[in-house]
Amino acid sequence: MSPYSRFGALAVASSGPGASRPARPPGRLRAGLRTLRRDGLVAIARSVGSRIRQRAWVNETHVWYEVAPDGASQSRQLPMETSLVTGDASHIHLLEALPTEVTEREARRRLAEGAELWLVTRAGEPLFACWLFRDSAPLLGAPGGELQLPEGVVVVEDVATAEHHRGKGIAPAALATIARRMDRRHTRRLLAKVERGNRASRRAFRKAGFRAVAHMHRRERGPFTAVQIDGSPEHGAARLPTKRLDPGSAAGWVDG
Ligand SMILES: CC(C)(COP(=O)(O)OP(=O)(O)OC[C@H]1O[C@@H](n2cnc3c(N)ncnc32)[C@H](O)[C@@H]1OP(=O)(O)O)[C@@H](O)C(=O)NCCC(=O)NCCS
Repeated sequence: MSPYSRFGALAVASSGPGASRPARPPGRLRAGLRTLRRDGLVAIARSVGSRIRQRAWVNETHVWYEVAPDGASQSRQLPMETSLVTGDASHIHLLEALPTEVTEREARRRLAEGAELWLVTRAGEPLFACWLFRDSAPLLGAPGGELQLPEGVVVVEDVATAEHHRGKGIAPAALATIARRMDRRHTRRLLAKVERGNRASRRAFRKAGFRAVAHMHRRERGPFTAVQIDGSPEHGAARLPTKRLDPGSAAGWVDG
């Protein structure tokens, strides 16, 4: 960690409507009963205990990526027979076929609040989805679970490619095409945060032209959350809208 990094202030962990943890769908109850029959009570108690420990003691690092519409890859193009569309409520059911944690209820809430659902489809089959947020984006560790965004900044969240279409460059092509399509008058930069260990996602963003600008460390200890941004101003960390999470960005940061 850079010696210049600072320790940011800290808001209480969020669990309100803006938080990115999805609400539980009723189907979870049925799944829980199935697991109970299959694994028994002891296994379930162990799993619940481990989840409680995970919630109470969290150490995680995300990498923030950034791209300007002009900086997005020009060479990444979606396959001819696919369409890139912005979705509405009639498209929400398509998310079921994708590896996303966004529930139907959460998707409806997001659309109602103005978030954009972008989808790549082929003959009606969903291949890829992601969400775009303006004004504010869900972020655990931010006050109220929402990161306030300056004008012209868009956050990309919850990217997902259908399992049997992974590794074909669909996500990089979709992300680059979305960035190129942004109206430059209203969108100066697109940001995304990816868990440091999610190599596939980090590769996909890099191929689309996104550049890593900072690491964000989040620690939860019971009800307390600490967020620290570790990045160099020259790499763009100073432009991150995270001032309320961390009083400053650090120098000497190298993309890991
Ligand atoms: C991250 C994700 C969207 C990437 O989509 P994609 O369309 O497969 O992107 P790419 O084709 O560029 O593949 C990206 C990387 O995935 C890995 N990959 C390749 N084939 C794969 C496969 N069959 N299954 C899983 N990962 C694969 C490779 O590391 C690849 O990068 P590389 O080939 O340049 O080394 C997709 O893996 C996904 O939906 N993951 C689950 C959800 C998720 O983690 N979302 C990110 C939240 S930030």
